Amino acid sequence: MNAALLNRFADIAYARAGIRLRDGKEALVSARVGKRMRALELERIEDYLAILEGPEADQEIVYFLDAISTNFTSFLREPDHFVRFAELVQTKLEAGQRRLRFWCAASSTGEEPYTIAMTAAEVIGERDVDWRILATDISTRVLSVAEAGVYDDPVLEPVPRAQRERWFTKMAAGGPRGPRWAVAPALKQHVTFKRLNLATPPFPMKGPLDAVFCRNVMIYFDQPVRQQLIAGIERLLAPDAILFIGHSETLSGLDTQLRALKPSVYAPRSDSTRTPGRGQTS
Ligand SMILES: C[S@@+](CC[C@H](N)C(=O)[O-])C[C@H]1O[C@@H](n2cnc3c(N)ncnc32)[C@H](O)[C@@H]1O
Repeated sequence: MNAALLNRFADIAYARAGIRLRDGKEALVSARVGKRMRALELERIEDYLAILEGPEADQEIVYFLDAISTNFTSFLREPDHFVRFAELVQTKLEAGQRRLRFWCAASSTGEEPYTIAMTAAEVIGERDVDWRILATDISTRVLSVAEAGVYDDPVLEPVPRAQRERWFTKMAAGGPRGPRWAVAPALKQHVTFKRLNLATPPFPMKGPLDAVFCRNVMIYFDQPVRQQLIAGIERLLAPDAILFIGHSETLSGLDTQLRALKPSVYAPRSDSTRTPGRGQTS
């Protein structure tokens, strides 16, 4: 694929999902798009671009974005976040809060929202608490894996044995990679998956949200898309909420009232320290 063709794919990815396909990604895009073209029995890349740029593009865009997005994730990824999250849940319960709302904003194949769910469930225990996790992603392919909630044995490797036994059931039939594990209904019932594009705020949720995980997705966006995204999240946060971003990400350079509790962990400014301006809710 030459640079001019890559640019056309890059323009579509940016316009539709805020994703920046960087120069040098020709081989990667070509391999991924090639798979999709074979499925559509198209031989010329220009014919595929014509579909993506044409009036009937909306349906194919979903598959295109599935093909180009990077979905790497794992259970208990960046584990210190879950220690901090458990403390947040504990603090809220001790303060008498009995309704908790969490958003996992780029949930990929589900490992992250189910880790959030395991963590919350273990802190909440038998208390009568109404708690829910909304897990969203732009890719319908990863969302359907997440919704199924069935994982190969190696995927569960980061999950300690006690948690595995408590929150997963071994399926009767294994797969080519050994035993398969299904997320327990007791966990699953708290997680709802929906398709949502982070590049097009405002988001449809009402808030206030008690915690938001928006990790390892901003790296694919440029500053204007990040700025809108963070402003959209900020509007939804409860005053004592926490926003987790990926360890390799930062909010520095963005216009936001959120303050870093430590790198990659952010909280709204308390009212007394807020400065007037965008991000302040009344
Ligand atoms: C590298 S994965 C990160 C998954 C998880 N948050 C983690 O940290 O392990 C990035 C995810 O962001 C999703 N994504 C990319 N662009 C998006 C957009 N515009 N809106 C919503 N999700 C997007 C991808 O489909 C992918 O599942």
